[in-house]
Amino acid sequence: MNIQNTAAKARITAIGTYVPERRLTNFELEQMVDTSDEWIVQRTGIRERRIAGPDEYTSDLCVAAVKDLTERYGKSVADVDFIIAATTTPDYPFPSVSSQVQARCGIEQAGAIDISAACAGFTYGLHLASGLIASGLHKKILVIGGETLSKVTDYHDRTTCILFGDGAGAVLVERDEEVSGFLAAHVGSKGEGGVHLYRSGLSKQMGEKELAGNGCIVQNGREVYRWATTTVPVGMRQVMEKSSLQLSDVDWFIPHSANLRMVESICEKSGFPMEQALYSMELYGNTSSASIPLALDKGLKDGKVKTGDVLLLYGFGGGLVHAGLLLRWTI
Ligand code: COA
Repeated sequence: MNIQNTAAKARITAIGTYVPERRLTNFELEQMVDTSDEWIVQRTGIRERRIAGPDEYTSDLCVAAVKDLTERYGKSVADVDFIIAATTTPDYPFPSVSSQVQARCGIEQAGAIDISAACAGFTYGLHLASGLIASGLHKKILVIGGETLSKVTDYHDRTTCILFGDGAGAVLVERDEEVSGFLAAHVGSKGEGGVHLYRSGLSKQMGEKELAGNGCIVQNGREVYRWATTTVPVGMRQVMEKSSLQLSDVDWFIPHSANLRMVESICEKSGFPMEQALYSMELYGNTSSASIPLALDKGLKDGKVKTGDVLLLYGFGGGLVHAGLLLRWTI
């Protein structure tokens, strides 16, 4: 799907993140399944991940991320008029995580909706927010990516339990009369590939596969790897073609942090320098919709991302869906 000219007078004005305290290291996983730190680091780049407590749910992580945002940037969220929460692990099928955030953050006059785009959820959420602001319908939108994937991970399955972790990231997107932070976007879906990565559901069998039946994540890692490393380089080019910039103008590439080897492969195929990629999987694992804001925030805290930088964000995952955004960082 092609979307021309997503430029809008909207920009990100604040960011906040949160990860649970409990660390799950590769060495602990060695005690749980037949794996090794060496195998995990070599194949994925992941060293540890964070795990939510038994009474800690996705809405708790999202509220904590919003609290971090308000404290660090001195921004009130009381007048936010729309909340988008991207998650595949909501506390309940309904009510939504976004409505819980609305109530617990004291936001009185906002619409609230959760979106389902798996690991592309955060970039899809930003894409929608920029459009809602560009259209004049809304002025101040919270976009949150939050997950408690540990609650839907089968810790007997070594092919998935080494990958996933919990976390949340939130950004504030505001209307701005002068500056546009959203430069271009490209989104896409390949639903026939949905069978390769899913959370087993209530009743429906996925394709030819026998339903795992325990509500956990099921994946064909090789297929997902192949799809992502071929789709994202093409998508990056398509984002750039819709802008007036070249890939060489991008200061930081922030892809979904699924696997370090995937990021390396995407960079190699697209001709983008790996040193300018930001990622969060080493310390947090694959946190799905939270992985991009966690990587961006780390880039800010490390002093890498600076005002005026051009950022290329690229989310991809279950669906199979993907969404890339070209941004100018204006804070
Ligand atoms: N520890 C040790 N061995 C493991 C293992 C683990 N945690 N998981 C799988 N293996 C074994 C397999 O059983 C297999 O053994 P075999 O050859 O005796 O059958 C061997 O390692 C290779 O398995 P394979 O699945 O082909 O490995 P891989 O190189 O494809 O790596 C992933 C597996 C999951 C790391 C990789 O496919 C991947 O990252 N895919 C993308 C997944 C992803 O990011 N999903 C979310 C996207 S949003």
